[in-house]
This record gives sequence, C-alpha cells and structure tokens, in this order.
Amino acid sequence: MIYISLISTITRMWLTRSFKPFTFKNHYTNDLAFKDLDNLGLYVHIPFCKSICNFCPYCKVLYSKDLCDKYIDYLIKEINFVGSKLDEKKQVTSLYFGGGSPALATDKIKDIIDTINKYFIITEGIGIELHPEDVNVETLQALKNANVTKISIGIQSFNKKYQNILGRKPLDCSQLANNLSKVKFETVSIDLIFALPNQTYKDLKEDIDTALSIGANHIAIYPFIDFTFTKSKVKAMEKKEKKALLDDITNYLFEKGLVRNSIWTFATKNNASYSSMTRDNFLGFGCSATTLLKDQFKINTFSIEEYIKRIDNNNLPTSLTIDFTKRQRMIYYLFWTLYSTKIDSLDFEKFFGIPLKKMYGFELYLAKKLGFLTEENGIYSMTLKGAFYYHYYENFYTLSYIDKMWNVMKNEAFPKGIKL
Ligand SMILES: C[S@@+](CC[C@H](N)C(=O)[O-])C[C@H]1O[C@@H](n2cnc3c(N)ncnc32)[C@H](O)[C@@H]1O
Ligand code: SF4
Repeated sequence: MIYISLISTITRMWLTRSFKPFTFKNHYTNDLAFKDLDNLGLYVHIPFCKSICNFCPYCKVLYSKDLCDKYIDYLIKEINFVGSKLDEKKQVTSLYFGGGSPALATDKIKDIIDTINKYFIITEGIGIELHPEDVNVETLQALKNANVTKISIGIQSFNKKYQNILGRKPLDCSQLANNLSKVKFETVSIDLIFALPNQTYKDLKEDIDTALSIGANHIAIYPFIDFTFTKSKVKAMEKKEKKALLDDITNYLFEKGLVRNSIWTFATKNNASYSSMTRDNFLGFGCSATTLLKDQFKINTFSIEEYIKRIDNNNLPTSLTIDFTKRQRMIYYLFWTLYSTKIDSLDFEKFFGIPLKKMYGFELYLAKKLGFLTEENGIYSMTLKGAFYYHYYENFYTLSYIDKMWNVMKNEAFPKGIKL
C-alpha cells in the first residue's frame, strides 16, 4: 500500500506538473457555472434504506416515511433553486437516481422528474437503482409511468453463501424473472459483487448466467471494497487471485456475446447502458451528491438535517469544493473518461481546446508500449491488462481518497477542508 501510494503521488505530480495536491475547501457559492456545458448529466440522491447493509459505504439512513417525504420536499426546492437560474430549458444527457434505495420514494419520483422537466430536456433516458425488494410489479409500473427507462438491481450475489456473508436475504429468482417480464425497461442492469473470500470463477459464472436468465441485458460487476469505516468483517481478495478472477469473468462475458461499455459493466446489446459516472460534467442534487463542472468539483453535505437547513436559507448544500488547475482537470477528465475504457482525442480537444497528444503524447506512447492501451484513428482503448491495472488503481484510489473523504463527511456536515 505504501509503495502504490508513493507511485500514485509521484504520478499525480508528474501528470499535473505540480506539487499541488487535490485540495477541497469549504467555501461555497450559490452560482453553479453549468449553463454552457455540453454533455451534462444529472444525479439525484435519496438516502433511505429499509435496513442497513454492513458493507455499504454510501450516505444513507434508516427509512422513515415522514423524514423521506420532508427530504423530498427540500430536494424539489434545491432543483427549483438551481434550475430557475436558467434562461431557457437546458439539454442534458441522462438523469440517474441513486441511494440508498430511491424506490422507497416511488410515490414521489414522478414529482421529482416533473420538476426536473421544467428546466431540463433529458435525451438519453432516466435510470434508478433498485433493491431486490423493490422489484415488484406495482413499483416497476409506477416507475415506468414516471418515464424511467433504466433500472439497476443491487443483487450482489445469487449464491446463498455470499448472501449470508453480505447479510442479504435469499432471493426468489422465478418471482424476480416473472415481475421483470411484466414491466419492460430499455436497460435492466444487475449489480454483482466479486472478489469475496474464496469466491470462484464457477460461483461467478453461475451468478452471471442467473442474471441473464432472469432478464438482465446489462451486468455490473464490482470488486468488493472493504471500506475502513463500515462494520463489515469481510476481507477483500488478494491482488493475484483477483486478477485471475477478473480476467476469467471478463472473457466469459465476451464469450457470451456481451460487450464491455465501462470498466465494470457489460451489455448484451449496444443500446443497454447504465452509468452515472461516464459524463463530462454533471449536476448532483441531494445529500452527498457530487457536481462536476468545467473547473470545479463539489460535494454536498452528508447530513440530512444540515442539508434541509441550507435549502431553507436559500443556499446550496455544498460542503466541499475543489477549484481545479487546468492540468488537474485534465487528469480528472482522463481518469473518469477511461472508466468507459476509451478516450477519443477529438473529445479531449473539444473539451480543453488543446490536442491530447500535445499534453500527454509521451504518457500515451508509454501506456501503449506497456500494453495498457491500443490506438486506432485517435481513439485509445484499454486492453485487458490495462483494465486490470485501472481496476487495481481505482481500488487503491477508492480506499485512499474516497474512503478518507466519506469518513470525514459522515462525521462532519461541513469539514474545514481535506487534502488528498
Ligand atoms: C446504492 S447500492 C444499490 C441499490 C440498493 N440500495 C441495493 O443495495 O440493492 C449501489 C451498489 O454499490 C455496490 N456496493 C455497495 N457496497 C460495496 C462495497 N463495499 N464494495 C463493492 N461494491 C459495493 C453494490 O453492488 C450496490 O448494488
Ligand atoms: S447496499 Fe443498498 S440497501 Fe444496503 S445499505 Fe447500501 S444502499 Fe442501502
């Protein structure tokens, strides 16, 4: 860990050509510079769950109808506050609802979408994360009526042994399949977790087969991450074992005819997609939601109480902000664009007004020589080896940066600042 931490710091300094770390400060403003941004996505966070899983790092509390209803009233105020700054309706790519278990507020999802539609035109659909318990015909139909087009179900594992380890209830697969067959969505994605203790290729093949057999056309396979602040006692798998498993399941998904559309996700057909991460810019509403703009990254407070107070006072609930240097924003762009496993040099040039090769020609040459990337007509694609090392680095990044930050944010509504 110390070794990779040192490499990571040196790499960051090299790529940003600066000793400056990524610094989050607690200043905030009510102006968000999003009006002129292309390829803007929207995210809405609903932080309520019926029970809390001990492995889960996300911002959430136990569900109560009163608190959830109150929270959504304020969420709608926040959307109105931000949206009313536009002079005309703004085109955005997608809208994703995450949590928590956002379907606990199914009766209000339409109100939220209607509010968003007052200010934005959504061109690539609306997605929502579902807990398996939400997959009933009534909820699915209500979501469909609200114009939701993509669902993502947090199955984690179909295997009883791993459901036990993760503290999740057993699933009735034929009931799930039956319900999913009654209400159709463009994308039906299933989240699986891999790299759990002693998990084998055979276990994961069975999980993938079951996911496809109950109606998924999209699969997300996340490596298990042992966050320091969760109560989970589950330990993540060693690097070597994990690499072999990841290579095997990736090849298995390819054999089954799926295509990789992001580092962790695979689709059975090209138009199935579910990713709230692969957008150039995004606006986040609700507790813990993040906003990425041309030269800023913001994160909202994790405290529901403080979130409500800020909105009550006609202020945005921003807790921390990074003001990027140009090079920092480039690294941020490249890291998250690579998440889609591809970088198009023309997109980079359009975004920054400078050719990618001029900025990072040597690094790209090195990445090709090391077998991490291939290039065709200015489009760089990640190889299997590149995907593993991205995975590996992402894991490290999550544990050293996101873990550190969320740990602070969980305990302090408005920390003074964080240096990463
Ligand atoms: C907000 S949850 C999904 C929706 C719903 N609340 C549920 O649990 O089914 C988002 C996803 O994050 C993934 N996840 C949560 N904790 C994780 C961890 N410690 N390591 C890896 N993936 C994790 C799970 O696959 C989960 O489905
Ligand atoms: S995994 Fe899903 S249900 Fe479990 S605590 Fe996290 S958000 Fe809630």
